[in-house]
Order: sequence, then structure tokens, then C-alpha cells
Amino acid sequence: MKLLLQPKGVLAALLLLIFPAFYSPFAHASPSVLSEWNAPKPRHLPLLKSALQLPTSNEKQSDLWTPLDDQGWRPCVESTNSPPSLPEKSEGYLQVFLDGGLNQQRMGICDAVAVAKILNATLVIPHFEVNPVWQDSSSFMDIFDVDHFINVLKDDISIVKELPDEFSWSTREYYAIAIRATRIKMAPVHASANWYLENVSPVLQSYGIAAVSPFSHRLSFDNLPMDIQRLRCKVNFQALVFVPHIRALGDALVSRLRHPYKNGAPGASYLQESTDVIDKDSAGKFVVLHLRFDKDMAAHSACDFGGGKAEKLALAKYRQVIWQGRVLNSQFTDEELRSQGRCPLTPEEIGLLLAALGFDNSTRLYLASHKVYGGEARISTLRKLFPLMEDKKSLASSEERSQIKGKASLLAAVDYYVGLHSDIFVSASPGNMHNALRPCPGSDFLLVANKLILSAHRGTVASTLQLKQ
Ligand SMILES: *[C@@H]1O[C@H](CO)[C@@H](O)[C@H](O)[C@H]1NC(C)=O
Ligand SMILES: *[C@@H]1O[C@H](CO)[C@@H](O)[C@H](O)[C@H]1NC(C)=O
Repeated sequence: MKLLLQPKGVLAALLLLIFPAFYSPFAHASPSVLSEWNAPKPRHLPLLKSALQLPTSNEKQSDLWTPLDDQGWRPCVESTNSPPSLPEKSEGYLQVFLDGGLNQQRMGICDAVAVAKILNATLVIPHFEVNPVWQDSSSFMDIFDVDHFINVLKDDISIVKELPDEFSWSTREYYAIAIRATRIKMAPVHASANWYLENVSPVLQSYGIAAVSPFSHRLSFDNLPMDIQRLRCKVNFQALVFVPHIRALGDALVSRLRHPYKNGAPGASYLQESTDVIDKDSAGKFVVLHLRFDKDMAAHSACDFGGGKAEKLALAKYRQVIWQGRVLNSQFTDEELRSQGRCPLTPEEIGLLLAALGFDNSTRLYLASHKVYGGEARISTLRKLFPLMEDKKSLASSEERSQIKGKASLLAAVDYYVGLHSDIFVSASPGNMHNALRPCPGSDFLLVANKLILSAHRGTVASTLQLKQ
């Protein structure tokens, strides 16, 4: 463990000394003792044992599912006195290139509509970059219903699917190869509305087009006019709906979660199911757990996850290759990181947390997740606590999943949809999915901070869990 705490030069030298093959490009091809799939073992065994023996009280169970009161929160898209108004004249075309995963792109779309409104510009349907981690080339139109999007916002801003011929030169490739006057490259993170008026309006006026890239997180959350904030909400909660096949699959998953014994084995076509009349009263409740525990996140946190030396080395290597040592956390010890709440919860830890909150082995859990780092070996502890755990694969046949197979954004879209229709959504660590889902009406949100202290030497699980804000 101390190995990771060495300055990175020393670490690299050590790694090379001990495992010279590690940095060779073919190292991953040879199965060896270095395989990172040494089964990670439960790290909190005494807690796990007591959690598995925890008696359940029906009273606590019904409390858990009771909707929280709104605490003054209201849906953000409320009718206003001033009706939406389309600017009399467009100042030009606004183009944005969005990186990140699906939910980061979703927030980027909300911001792009807001910026187009601020500038009186015509928005070009945003271009999605292929993310190096997720490797999905799905476009806006592959994921979202583009005609619905344009239609819902038609009184707020003008939107075009493509640039007119006179601007067809303004492509991603055009901006990739040289410095261009129409590219806005230096938008600061959380820029104000005024920043856009001062820096982007002149470009629109001179050239009739402005391409903002990078654009993710480039619009402030605060201090924007109320009508712009409402417009952002309208985009997130009304304008952005998934394409029909995502919604159909999502509805089928939700229905199978609520009626586990009704729908038979997966494989029955969900198209047939949608015509079933479903008895609302008998519907079971379910929790969606957004478990963000992929290799990328595990490596970036620089924490120790109990997978032993092989795992630590594998994560260190990943950090070295992807971030070239730019991970600030590497300078802290695992204990320091953990007490500062900087370590993502493992599936085991989130399972213990849910058990401590009162969920038991009768709780139906839907795992919303991309690849879990460590695979089934890591999920199995969670499954011990929650045997009724499902995911896309267990609930739908491969035929039903064929349209989303291998497409990270579409897979995430299905999870988002199921999360939106869940009774309780638990986010194991703050991320873009919960940011994008947050003020969702009709669903209880149980937000779980990642600042968790687990100490094994006290009584019950419940009393050993502390959440620090
Ligand atoms: C946008 O249009 C409105 C009128 O529709 C006008 O009052 C406002 O000044 C315009 N803003 C910009 C940046 O062009
Ligand atoms: C659930 O846990 C109880 C003990 O709390 C046990 O008796 C029961 O068999 C478990 N059910 C399943 C499905 O594991």
C-alpha cells in the first residue's frame, strides 16, 4: 500500500524494477500473476455478517418507502407571467461540441439552449464527441427525439438540425486542424451570461457563426436571469426525451421490476407487454442504485479498494497512462483520502450503507451501472445482501437489448430512464447522472454522500455508519 505514496518518479522506477513487463504495450495480452482480476474480498466482514443477520422491522420498511415531503422544493418549470418569446432576429448560429458521457452531454445541451437564448442565436443541434473512456459515437439524434426537442423549444429559440450550405465549412475537423476566428476556445468554467455577451456576440456579429469548444460546464449555475434558469429546466425535463426504442425498453424494465412474477421469463417481447393492463395496486417498489464504480473512477480516486497488490498496480498503471501523474489524490494516503470522503464507495460499502438505512433482502434493487470494476467478484457481496438485484441484462433478453448493445450512451440512457421511474434513487457518489436527475418530480431522492466512515469494531451496522456532510 505504501508503494502508492511514493513520489511518482520513484513509483515508476519501482514498478519498472519489480515488473519490467508492466509498461510494455503487450503486457495486457499475457495472462500473469499481475492480472487485476484477483478476486477482491469483502473488506468489512464483521459488518457484513451483522448486516446479514439484521432483523427487519416492518415499521422501518414502510418508513423507508414513504415519500419525503418536498421541503419547499418545487418543479423548476413553472408557468411564468412572461410567455416565451422568440427573438425577432437571429444574431447567427451557435455551435457546440460536447464531450463527456451521456449525462454531462445532457447538461451541456441545457447550457447550449440557455446560451443561444442569451445571445439570440440559432442553435445547431449539438455535436457529441466520442469519449475516450466510453467509446460511443451515438449522435444527438440516436439518443434523443430531435423533432420533439425542436418543437418543445420552438417559442424560445430557433434550432436547426444542420448548418445551411453557406456555413457547411464549420465542422469539428475544420476546428481541429488550425486556429480559427469563429472558434471560442477560452470560455471559462462557469462563465456568466455577460461573458457570452462580451465575447461571443461580437464573433456572431462578424461571422454569423460561433463554435464554442470546449463547452462542458461553461455556463454558471448561479446569477443568471430567472427566465434563463427556467429555460434550462424546460430543456432537461420537457424537451429532452429519449428516442422511442429507449423508452420502450425502459418501460419494459420498469414493468418487470414492479411485477416480477407477472411477466414471465425475459425474452417475452416488450412490445407485447406494453398493451397489458397493469394493476397499479399490486405494483412493487424498487430502488435504483447508481453505482459508479468503474476502472476510470477507481483509478482517478487513487484509493485502495482491497484488491491487493495486483489491483493497486493496475490502477497505478492506468493513472500513469491516462492522466500522466496528474492525479492530485496520489499525494495522500488511503486513510487520509477515506476520511476526507474522496473514495468512491465499493459495491460492498454501498450495500452496507443501504442495509444500515433499513433496506433488507426483500428489497428489489436495480443496478444502474456501466462496467463495475472487479466485475462479479465485487458485486457478489452486494448481491449477498440484496439477492433480488437486477440489471438490464437480467431483465431483458439479448434480442431486446440488441439496439443498445455496446453503446455506452444508450445503455446509460436506459438506466437514466429506469432511475427516473424508480421509487428511490440512490447515487453512490456524486456524479453527472444525479446532477441531471436531481430535481426530478415524482420520485424520492435519497442522496448519499461519499463521505462515509465505516468502523468495524462497534455494535450494529446502523450505529457504525456516519455520514459527514
Ligand atoms: C435579443 O433580442 C431582444 C429582443 O427580441 C433584445 O431586446 C435583446 O437586446 C437582444 N439581445 C442580443 C444579445 O442581441
Ligand atoms: C432474508 O434474511 C432473513 C434473515 O434476516 C432470512 O431468514 C431469509 O431466508 C432471507 N431471505 C433470502 C431470500 O435470502
